[in-house]
Amino acid sequence: MTTSSAPGKVYLFGEHAVVYGEPAVPCAIGRRARVTVEARDDARLRVDSKDLTLDGFTVTYGEAAGTEVNVPQSLVEAATGYVDEAVAQARDAADAPDAGFNVTIESEIPLGAGLGSSAAVVVAGIDAATRELGVELPPEELADRAYQVERDVQDGQASRADTFCSAMGGAVRVEGDDCRRIEAPELPFVVGYDGGAGDTGKLVAGVREIREQYGFAADTVEAIGDIVRHGERILAKGDLDELGRLMNFNHGLLSALGVSSRSLDTMVWAARDAGARGAKLTGAGGGGCIVALDESDGARTALDYTPGCEQAFRAELDTEGVRVE
Ligand code: MEV
Repeated sequence: MTTSSAPGKVYLFGEHAVVYGEPAVPCAIGRRARVTVEARDDARLRVDSKDLTLDGFTVTYGEAAGTEVNVPQSLVEAATGYVDEAVAQARDAADAPDAGFNVTIESEIPLGAGLGSSAAVVVAGIDAATRELGVELPPEELADRAYQVERDVQDGQASRADTFCSAMGGAVRVEGDDCRRIEAPELPFVVGYDGGAGDTGKLVAGVREIREQYGFAADTVEAIGDIVRHGERILAKGDLDELGRLMNFNHGLLSALGVSSRSLDTMVWAARDAGARGAKLTGAGGGGCIVALDESDGARTALDYTPGCEQAFRAELDTEGVRVE
């Protein structure tokens, strides 16, 4: 039996635009997905999820296997799609096409909420399954294989950002295939979560459509890239006020691209009104989480009292990526 864990992340800047080759800066946070894998003596797969911040669900599948679920089928299909593909990657990496597994997922990262839950599950899952088969992959290869999973499950529409960040930890810069870790100061992140989830595939497809339809939408995507290029220099200087300002700008552009929501905007404004240096949605949007920059208790307390905010918490930068538990 092998357990691996990998961190979730917030986007300081650049989600969505990164899908079109602009740079992005995601940062790993101290909330992890843990995946335990046990080899079976047949080729089947049993997946058991204890906490995806959903009611627990158990699914057994493989040849003629029964299915048992108690959450909306679309979310189960999305989650099991990632696990299926992660297992396929592990079988391929270990050259063990008929390996079967019992997989248990425990996650502190809400599903589909912009904190990189699927990337963390996939990275930890490939790591645990390959180790269980006696193969140890370097984090760069794990990131690459996990990216292929996200790309396949999201119909070819994914960047390397979430998976690279989860595999490597810390703050990273991703531009197309060029992925690297970058230096970052202490970043006082506060996360607000509305209890909901966005459909990443649909949201990415929506941005693609308006980007193709309107020149000004394509310009908006490029402008997000400009924010990231400027933001990297500010990050290196550690100027938190200017970083916050750029986060606000980035949120406005994401909103223009149609990926914010009433609850995300409400949480963003609650954090700003409470004195945060800046706030924006994080991830695909549509619902889920916002991230604010605030070293005081102001934004977190305000979010606690904001209607529609289900949970607010401080999130430290996690410099450690995937690891064996
Ligand atoms: C989703 O967490 C981030 C997006 O940029 C998609 C991706 O990068 O794969 C919306």
